[in-house]
Amino acid sequence: MFGKKAKRKHKKIVSLVTVADKTSVISEQYRTIRTNIQYAMVDRTLRTIVVTSSGPDEGKSTTSANLAVVFADAGLKTLLIDADLRKPTIADSFFLSNGKGLSTLLRDRSAEAHQMIRDSGVNGLWILPSGPKPPDPSEMLASKRMAEIVAELKGSFDLIIFDMPPIVAVTDAQIMAAKADGTILVVREGISNKNALIRAKRLLQNVNANVLGTIYNGAENNKNSGASYYYGD
Ligand SMILES: Nc1ncnc2c1ncn2[C@@H]1O[C@H](COP(=O)(O)OP(=O)(O)OP(=O)(O)O)[C@@H](O)[C@H]1O
Ligand SMILES: [Mg+2]
Repeated sequence: MFGKKAKRKHKKIVSLVTVADKTSVISEQYRTIRTNIQYAMVDRTLRTIVVTSSGPDEGKSTTSANLAVVFADAGLKTLLIDADLRKPTIADSFFLSNGKGLSTLLRDRSAEAHQMIRDSGVNGLWILPSGPKPPDPSEMLASKRMAEIVAELKGSFDLIIFDMPPIVAVTDAQIMAAKADGTILVVREGISNKNALIRAKRLLQNVNANVLGTIYNGAENNKNSGASYYYGD
């Protein structure tokens, strides 16, 4: 069973606690974060939100997916876009195929968004998987075509959440943060590094990103493991 031939590709999936256990403390924390973001929505139009962090493994995909679920639960027609074209996890997390998605749309002008968008299984939540890994993710995200796709999708959804790569390593999240209505920075206990965080903040400031706040993502094996939100930056 465990011989060389049985080698399987490891799939990274994130925990959808807001689907699996809606009454849990962690789900409640995601709803609290939603409420905080909704306050920011009163002051200004907030239709596109970028989720990033300074470095890898800080909980960007977990946060973006669970936030997307609680916004859909609140009645907003929500689209979660896996814009981490380098290390996508969203399709697998919702048990969807990643065969076609954002990269397909970006490469093929004749492809249409509605053909790539999948029903998440959660009421009110749709998913645009990343699609096959392209050779030039940053250029693709910075392209006019990307701006056109987002503008078109804004006509069909109340809220679009972008799961992004870490902002310090590659420029993808900075590109999207510059264009999005709001950006959320995820910080993970025991993983985030102070210098990287300072750099992340500077990179966001450089493009005048509207940083809505920081989500503090709790430690693994911690009973209170979950997320809390710090408003403002
Ligand atoms: N609060 C938490 N408690 C326990 N495990 C967590 C927590 N947040 C994230 N994880 C786990 O840590 C790993 C990384 O999380 P996730 O994929 O959401 O991070 P990421 O920032 O998107 O990573 P990447 O930089 O690879 O995109 C996953 O296995 C996830 O299930
Ligand atoms: Mg991720």
